[in-house]
Amino acid sequence: MTLDEKLSFVSAQVDPKGLGEAGYIPGVPRLGIPELRLTDGPAGVRVNHHATALPAPVTLASTWDPRLARDYGQVIGRDGRALDQDVQLAPMTNIIRVPQGGRNFETFSEDPLVSSHMVANEITGIQSQGLIATVKHYAENNQEDDRMGVDVNVDAQTMHEIELPAFQAAVQAGVGALMCSYNSVNGKHGCGNDDLLNGILKTQWAFRGWVMSDWGATHATTDLVAGLDQDMFTAGLQPDPYFQGALKQAITDGSIPVAALDDAVARILGQMERFGLLDGAAEHRPARDPKGGAKVAQRVAESGAVLLKNAGGALPLTASDNRIAIIGPSAKTPKVGGGGSSSVTPDAATSPLDAITRRAGARASITYAAGGDTTGVALPLADSPLGSDGTLTLPAGAYKTARSTITVPATGDYIFTVNAPGSYGSVTVDGAKVADTAYGTVSASAHLTAGTHTIDLFATVLQGAPATLRFTWVTPDMVTAARNQAVAVAKKVRTPIVFAYDDLTEGTDRTGLSLPFSQDELISAVADANPNTIVVLNTGSSITMPWLSKVKAVLDTYYPGENGAEATARLLYGDVNPSGKLTQTFPTSASATPVAGDPKAYPGVDHQETYKEGIFVGYRWYDKTGTTPLFPFGYGLSYTSFAYGDLRVRASHGGLTVSFTLKNTGHRDGQEVAQVYVGAGPNVTEPQAVRKLAGYEKVFLHAGQTRTVSVRVDAQQLRYWDTRTGSWRMATGTRGVWVGGSSRDLPLHAATAVSAR
Ligand code: BGC
Repeated sequence: MTLDEKLSFVSAQVDPKGLGEAGYIPGVPRLGIPELRLTDGPAGVRVNHHATALPAPVTLASTWDPRLARDYGQVIGRDGRALDQDVQLAPMTNIIRVPQGGRNFETFSEDPLVSSHMVANEITGIQSQGLIATVKHYAENNQEDDRMGVDVNVDAQTMHEIELPAFQAAVQAGVGALMCSYNSVNGKHGCGNDDLLNGILKTQWAFRGWVMSDWGATHATTDLVAGLDQDMFTAGLQPDPYFQGALKQAITDGSIPVAALDDAVARILGQMERFGLLDGAAEHRPARDPKGGAKVAQRVAESGAVLLKNAGGALPLTASDNRIAIIGPSAKTPKVGGGGSSSVTPDAATSPLDAITRRAGARASITYAAGGDTTGVALPLADSPLGSDGTLTLPAGAYKTARSTITVPATGDYIFTVNAPGSYGSVTVDGAKVADTAYGTVSASAHLTAGTHTIDLFATVLQGAPATLRFTWVTPDMVTAARNQAVAVAKKVRTPIVFAYDDLTEGTDRTGLSLPFSQDELISAVADANPNTIVVLNTGSSITMPWLSKVKAVLDTYYPGENGAEATARLLYGDVNPSGKLTQTFPTSASATPVAGDPKAYPGVDHQETYKEGIFVGYRWYDKTGTTPLFPFGYGLSYTSFAYGDLRVRASHGGLTVSFTLKNTGHRDGQEVAQVYVGAGPNVTEPQAVRKLAGYEKVFLHAGQTRTVSVRVDAQQLRYWDTRTGSWRMATGTRGVWVGGSSRDLPLHAATAVSAR
């Protein structure tokens, strides 16, 4: 290969076919090496074509069913191959550290064991179809605010015990590629971090695949030497890419050894060979299977939905719930997925309103009230570049900025919405960005005083086709009118069901944990008007629920994918029994979380952030500090009930086998996620969790059935990271073992001796 041919593998190019994927490498026709197309993202395949829009990865994790992660991966693998792609930019497996995190929906859990199982099985599924998976974003990309600038200061024990296990699990599952992160870790950029890339990943873990940068995360040509193999960015937008002319120069003048480039190219080609891409796999692609994909999407949504409250058996709905009000914008326009690079154009998506109406049958009377509005009307700018419907159309590759003013009629919260399919758009009010989105739709509110305000619009078309963006707003008067109408409707029915949602997206975190767009007020007002109110949440992460005591039931499906409506209807009517459990703690308020109250811990000060909670992430912090959460890690209700008994713990293969009986004590068949936690070792001086999840099993039981369940606790789950030696070490001595249905409901307890072997 010539130097130029080698260089063509390590830097993003523009796809001449413009299929809408995120990245493209041209290959070397002279040598019969094909092109390589790389596509987002975790919840399906994002190209200029519809695809199976799977539930958000956090919904997948909430199933606690690694087999479903395999099925989920297989759908992505087949879709990706069928849509002419070769590499999937997924899964994401950063730990949920910060409840505000803008990408919490795209990842799995606050717990490394759950994340490890999910990531490994999803990768196996994706790659079983011949699509190369990419685990991302290595490492410590645990927030979106200042994601490009923040330097995460994290101690070795915390990194090895909390963030890294799932990445190592991905490597052990044979992942072909890894994406390094925007943020820095302990003073070095994620993509120029010799310790993380050459040290831990390539040497300690013996990773054989290649490392690509997150889009625009390369900072120097020498990142190649630090272990980065491929510089990715939105081709065309980066004027002077690091791994093109500058790298050629550095190799020619000998300041970077050509061996480093050879290694990078060999890693990429090695995976292309492994996946048959050098033997014509690109020409033999499967057809899509949209029906099969939709089935998996629905199974995951049904199995991952978490029933958070069900007072007096309000759910499932029965024949006597025959006068129902369906309320909320997301009941009519289904909330399929989150925003940013993860957004997928679904093959089809029914609205919850239609799915429930169909399931309720002809005898039921269903009324709908929006209860709120996030689209509203075109931004009434003084000097507007927008059409009367708020639209703006731009050709491919173009961008536009426009400054104008807007007159705010009365002080209050105004909702700004940017709809930007295949493009990027933002609205800035008085110099502060209020809403921005790449590829999707986003709404965000701003508190504005009456009078004139400056508005800056920005729009650019990222992909190879013209795009129409839309800029709109909703005034407080419009919100109040919609709420009043919903209350009037709720008063006339037996059962109001309010659908509430949010719009999480990469690039920004939530500013708080409340529902946006006055939805807390909507739910409260409806519940005040009718005590039978049921809430369905299509939200991306934990939220606070000031109205919780007023409503009868809460079902959280996160972003449930293209068949979310069908799944929701079946769950509400008890055709399936809810069995999802939370993979993250829900706090009572934004001030009662592991990162609250200290900007140095989150979101960072002057781009410096210290993970001062150490290993006490998620439930580990709630347990250590005795803080009561709104809903604990591992929590989730069922329409039946379970009883645990007869705990036995025995040592086996360096780990433990934990057996117990589980009985379905209710009147319906159901599934329980039985969880095993282990306590600290008495001889360890490093910080340790009061209890950590060490194993689990999702068990199906017929009504009345009892089974003996055995959960394996691997030896690794009994180890801790010994900072002095920089290695894993068994935490020996007498250790507690707890078993139950959540991290805060552990009816079985025993003690067991753990020895060094
Ligand atoms: C995101 C990645 C994504 C990439 C390509 C970045 O902004 O952080 O997760 O894969 O864009 O779209």
